Order: sequence, then C-alpha cells, then structure tokens
Amino acid sequence: MTASPVQAGRQQRYSREDWASGFGNVLHERSCWLDAVEGRIPMELQGTLFRNGPGRMERGGRWVHHSFDGDGMILSLAFGDGRAYLRNRFVRTSGFVEEERAGQWRYRGVFGTRKPGGVVANALDLRLKNIANTNVVDWGGRLLALWEAGLPHSLDPVSLETRGEDQLGGVLDRGESFSAHPRFDPGHQGEPRMVGFGVKTGPTSTVRLMEFDGTGQLVADQSRRFSGFAFLHDFAITRRYAVFLRNALRFNPAGYILGWKGAAQCLSSRPGQAGQFWIVPRDGRGEVRIIDAPEGFVFHHVNACEEGDTLVLDSIHYSDFVSIGPELDFRQVDFDSLPAGILKRCRIDLASGCVSTAVLSGRCCEFGMVNPRRQGLPARYGWIAVAERAEGNDPLQAIEKRDFDTGACLCWSAAPRGFVSEPVMVPRPGGRAEDDGWVLCLVWNGARRASDLVILDAADLRQLAVLKLPLAIPHGLHGSWSPRHSQPEPA
Ligand code: CO
Repeated sequence: MTASPVQAGRQQRYSREDWASGFGNVLHERSCWLDAVEGRIPMELQGTLFRNGPGRMERGGRWVHHSFDGDGMILSLAFGDGRAYLRNRFVRTSGFVEEERAGQWRYRGVFGTRKPGGVVANALDLRLKNIANTNVVDWGGRLLALWEAGLPHSLDPVSLETRGEDQLGGVLDRGESFSAHPRFDPGHQGEPRMVGFGVKTGPTSTVRLMEFDGTGQLVADQSRRFSGFAFLHDFAITRRYAVFLRNALRFNPAGYILGWKGAAQCLSSRPGQAGQFWIVPRDGRGEVRIIDAPEGFVFHHVNACEEGDTLVLDSIHYSDFVSIGPELDFRQVDFDSLPAGILKRCRIDLASGCVSTAVLSGRCCEFGMVNPRRQGLPARYGWIAVAERAEGNDPLQAIEKRDFDTGACLCWSAAPRGFVSEPVMVPRPGGRAEDDGWVLCLVWNGARRASDLVILDAADLRQLAVLKLPLAIPHGLHGSWSPRHSQPEPA
C-alpha cells in the first residue's frame, strides 16, 4: 500500500492509510508473557491495565457503519516484577454470541450499522444490542465491561471470561442502563467510592446517581428529573457535587424508526442554543442547580473541583456535534472538515449562576485525566491525548502533560506513523508528588500494523518501555488501572 501523507505546509503529518489500518477485526484471543522490546518495565509497576474498545468491525463482508458499533474486546496487561502478562477476550454478550454463530449482523447499531436486507429488514427493529465496548472498571470485586445504554457485563477479573449481565447486586433493574463513565472518588466522603449514573430520557429525563463503597455496596442513591431530552456520556465529581453538562441536542427518531439511520445519527445540534450544567448535590439534599453552559458539544470532562462556591470544570469542547451520515465511510472521514476537541475551563459561580469559560489550549485533544488521587480536587497536572499539529483537527498522535498552573506542556509523540489512545496515569505507590508515576498508552503502530503499549514517566514523559503486542487492536475507547495482581506463576 502506498502511503499518501497529509501535508501541513512542508511538514509531514500522518498518512490516512496508516490511521485507517487501525480498524479491523481482532483475530486472536491470547494469553502470553510479554517483554519490553525497548527499555524496561518499571519494577514498581504492580497491577493490571484493563482496556476496552471495539474488536469486531466486519461480519459476513459487511463493515460496521462506525467503529463505535463494534463489539467490545477487553485487553488486560498484568504488570509485576518487571514483566507483563497479556490476555485479551471478547465480551460474550448475547448479541455477540448470536452473531458469531450466524456469521453476520443480526442487530442494528446505534451509530448506523444495519443488518443485511436493506431498509425493509431494518425498519421498526428497535432492539438494542448491548455491545459492552466502552469502558472496563475493576470495583468492589467485580470487573465490569460498560456500555452506556445497557447493563454492565461482569467478567472474570483474571481470565476475562464473560459471566453475563450484572445488576450490581440487585441495584439495577433489568433493562436499566449504567453509564460507561463512572468516576472514582479517592475519599472525599471518608472512603473511596465509585460514583456512577444512569439516564432515562425522552420528553423528560431522569438521572439516577449511585455511589458504591470499596466492597461494591450501594451507599448513596438518588434520582432527579429534568425537562427535555438529554444525551449524557460523561460527568464529573467534586466533594459535594456531581456535575453534568447537558448538551443542546435534539433527537428526531424518524430515520431510526424507518431503518435508514442509527439512533445516534438522529441527534443534531441546535445552533444558537446553549447547553446546561446540571449540578446535583451528592448528599441528595437540596435543589439541583441548572445553569446555562457555553454553546457547543462535550463528550468528556477531565476533572472538576470546588474553589469556595465556584465549581471549576475542565472539559473537551467541540464547536458542534457531528455524526457520520448514512452515506459516509468512517474510514474515509475528512478530519479537516470536522471540529477539533478543545480543552476549556469553565468557572461556574454557584452564588450568581455566572459562568466564565477560558480556552486552556488550542491544540486538538481528547481523553484527558489527572492523577486519580486528585479526582474532584484542584489538580496541577493533566495527561491528555493530542494531535501532533498545534492547530486544526487531526488524529491523536501524541501525549501531552499539561501544567494547569503555568500553562507549560511536555509532549511525547508517536507521529508520524503512531496513533495514541487514552493515556492512563498510574501514581507510584507511596509517591507524594502529583506527577510521580507512569502513563500507560496503547498505540496503533501504523508501520507494524499492530498495537504497542508504551510506558512513560509521568513527570517528564520520558519513554521507559515499549511492548510490542502480538495483536492488532483497533483504535479504542476507555480503560482503567487496577492494583489487582493477576499474573500466573512465572513461566
Ligand atoms: Co467516553
């Protein structure tokens, strides 16, 4: 294949073929030891990186319409004693098992994937296939593969075998949904907690906020009703509040019902309309505050904190919501025609209801996080996936460490042939400095047409180790770090 580099002036940016080669079916499920091919795995790195993302993109010769419709595939890398043990398994949801057996798609996808048979076969089929592909978290003894429109799937935390849909000990009803973006409170309420939500939406929306202690027991639970439709992918927490940004979107389901669009393709922005912040007191007492948010669209937040009666919320903003139209191939997407993700800080004055918004960086970015011990607290540093180029919209190819106090940045880049995913910051055990630890990142290696795991020093982004995986894992979604040690006995 000939690479055709996208040019920015005289500087080579990336080749579309390299980027698009990062989509495809994961062909193997493996369990094997891995050694670093460059550098060394830090001896103190003890625990497991779990990661989720679409792993099946084509069946019976038909591709998904968008990679987000691919079935979830879990990767675990268990670190200890300077070595790593890799496992990867598909989440065997009932839809996955049925479609694998049939060798073709039997369900429509939220992002526009259609069953064979044209509009006739797709119209009025409103069944959802839980694809369990968005995040994976290890909490309260459960390893959960998450997808925001359905129940979690629980997995064996070591073997990754699928146990089945999980109602979290009877907390969730059958048919209830649980977000793919729980937040982990490091101890603002006296103990570590997982804070999650579910949303039921239509002409009105009900948001259920649930908090679980370290044993997985439900310790707080409240539901709040709002007027209007809501698409909520992520949220943020502080010591006292859960903060949602309700984007100004409308949902017109006609194309979905008639079989030529996926449900997510029926969302459209409402130009000139502002979104809203929904600020829910975590203790369940008091009113929810509803405050106008800036125009635009947000998938992900980086962190939030309280400064007196001001909430500070760092998020990645887009000027508009854009979905892949029914006639477009997602692998041919024209990055230049799409809005870039821009890191912004909103300061929400709870006393006056006034919001001020500042751009923190003009560089296209996604998938940011702070040290997990600073979740919900003022954080000096953030680690975020960014484009190689300082302006414009491009695929994510570099990891940036941002100093929020000074605006200074460090960067580690995989360009021109590497494409990064969400960076996961792991604090060093016993470390005191906020940036003492490591950043783990799965990188699509366009030259090798396979995936690498890169370990960086979180403080200076020095590359400490590269592991070449015997797998080609598509550009993926979210993951998390667990202190769980799940290596087998050394071979
Ligand atoms: Co997400």
